Amino acid sequence: MLPALFLGVAMERMILTPRLACMAALVPQGARLADVGTDHGKLPLSLLLEGRVASAIGSDIGEGPLAHAARNAQEHGVSLSLRLAPGLDAVRTEECDTVSIAGMGGQTIAEILQAAPWTAGGSHLLLLQPMTMVYELRRWLWSHGYAIERETVCREGRRQYVILSARGGAPIKEVPLPQCSYSSALLRAQGAADYLRHLLARERRALAGMERARTADDDRLLEQRALVEHIEQALEELV
Ligand SMILES: C[S@@+](CC[C@H](N)C(=O)[O-])C[C@H]1O[C@@H](n2cnc3c(N)ncnc32)[C@H](O)[C@@H]1O
Repeated sequence: MLPALFLGVAMERMILTPRLACMAALVPQGARLADVGTDHGKLPLSLLLEGRVASAIGSDIGEGPLAHAARNAQEHGVSLSLRLAPGLDAVRTEECDTVSIAGMGGQTIAEILQAAPWTAGGSHLLLLQPMTMVYELRRWLWSHGYAIERETVCREGRRQYVILSARGGAPIKEVPLPQCSYSSALLRAQGAADYLRHLLARERRALAGMERARTADDDRLLEQRALVEHIEQALEELV
């Protein structure tokens, strides 16, 4: 597909941060994308500029972010359909086949999917990049009939992020939280061992803090120990 052309406007490439570049690389060629929480709109705009997507919607709950996306679209001469609404409230199921939600907490991502039950049907690829509460997001996905097909580890400076490629239409799985610290898809990802080493160090610190402070209740302490053991087992299998 040829990049969209716009007379009289410089069609410069949009530079993405490594995290957003990782998201962009996972969007299938020719996709009809809905990017939720689009903010500056850089993810859909770069994909439109590169001719990678057939169409793109940028949706955001905030007027300021959408105005920013509109300015960026105009500057680059790209037609991005902008929607002011929470989550997917202003996106119809037939308008997209790929939904991206990046840069938000795992709980917010789960709430956005819950409010749009059509995402559970299995016909949409969901690219989810949680900043926090990753275990909780995996648990929510599994318990609501979404499969995690792939996980991608990406680095930005010293930080590492995971992107979950998920799809509805899967059997419901109730998984205890410690076992949501990774999925089998994460173990197949490039960089998984390094990601898990960082995770293990963080969870060991949290466990040591709980043991020192003696404030956590017994259930919470047992859960944290199980979490640490679960990640240790994964690392043993990986290396
Ligand atoms: C930190 S920015 C992330 C921007 C971009 N997606 C990225 O990953 O760089 C979060 C954006 O999500 C928007 N947002 C937060 N909660 C939202 C919701 N429930 N529905 C839609 N947009 C939301 C905010 O207004 C903000 O523009």
